[in-house]
Amino acid sequence: MAEIILGIESSCDDTSAAVLDGELLLSNVMASQKVHEQYGGVVPELASRAHQQNILPVVHQAVHQAGITLDQVDAIAYTRGPGLLGSLLVGTSFAKGLALSADIPLVDVNHLHGHILSHFIRQNGKEYDPPRFPFLALLVSGGHSQIVRVDDFLNFTVIGRTIDDAVGEAFDKCAKLLGLGYPGGPIVDRLAAQGDARRFTFAKPNISGLDYSFSGVKTSLLYFLRDKIAEDPAFPADNMADICASFQKTLIDVLMKKLIMATKQTGITSVVIGGGVSANSGLRNRILEEGAKRRWKTYLPELRFTTDNAAMIAIAGLYKYRAGFRSSLYDAPVSRALDYADICSNSK
Ligand code: KG4
Ligand code: ZN
Repeated sequence: MAEIILGIESSCDDTSAAVLDGELLLSNVMASQKVHEQYGGVVPELASRAHQQNILPVVHQAVHQAGITLDQVDAIAYTRGPGLLGSLLVGTSFAKGLALSADIPLVDVNHLHGHILSHFIRQNGKEYDPPRFPFLALLVSGGHSQIVRVDDFLNFTVIGRTIDDAVGEAFDKCAKLLGLGYPGGPIVDRLAAQGDARRFTFAKPNISGLDYSFSGVKTSLLYFLRDKIAEDPAFPADNMADICASFQKTLIDVLMKKLIMATKQTGITSVVIGGGVSANSGLRNRILEEGAKRRWKTYLPELRFTTDNAAMIAIAGLYKYRAGFRSSLYDAPVSRALDYADICSNSK
């Protein structure tokens, strides 16, 4: 056996625990929280309470399914941030308590670092072809939209980031404006597949360099719907698939433009995507298409590793552990995204 890492993730509304034997995945248990659907978004207080209820059974099951005992665990890797503070506190406190009582080293992990390194998880019976360094990562989630240059397991440089909203927020907002429920991304994705993406156009941002902006696209949809509904209240219902397809295409065009620019600027043509929005079928197809056209080597995460999961936290923890990083009981959770360097570089 290689290093056994127990990963714990609780940054938003999924409680998850996973066990790795080196890069090999032994278990990945998730408890998703349905309670937020009725509110149209994650309610932080309810999320923390659900994490409290779920964390012990989820960790217990992950250890059990992996067929190991706690005394075989070499390190506990937990999400320290970014995320909702109350949610992070549950995972952080649990990880610390377990580490202290069982005398196991602790390794803190940046959630975003985990999304990117999820490409290195090995699974029994599946081909293993992880990306080679250096590569570019398009990290797209509910809270972040970034282009990251990855030179090594622990050497990350954010070369482009959103200056306002994340692309996942734009998907969720679109669904909300159309009365489609939460989380909106998967619903918009499904409807978009049946629609005409060239039917409507929305304003695209004009931001210099590799940075993104999504607030203008959102506002453009808001005004578009307001004007159309004033003429015909049934407009959204009658044109739902075309609106979703056109809006989704706009978001993907924006993402791709800067990603293409980044490959040209850096000369790096290995491209990975990660984060919740990397489940989007339109984005996945476009990455493959552009990649084939431009001779990129592209890597799409398996769908179960696109949403928040502890396997990705365990793999990032594994590489930090191998590099000698250990975290202390004094490390507090961090709700806001710090640069990777800041959150990766605590006690060694
Ligand atoms: O990474 P994630 O699970 O949580 C954060 O770290 O934020 O990302 C959640 C985001 C939500 O905005 C959700 O609507 C979006 O990912 N999402 C999608 C799809 N699946 C999830 N967006 C577009 N298409 C999808 N299929
Ligand atoms: Zn995430």
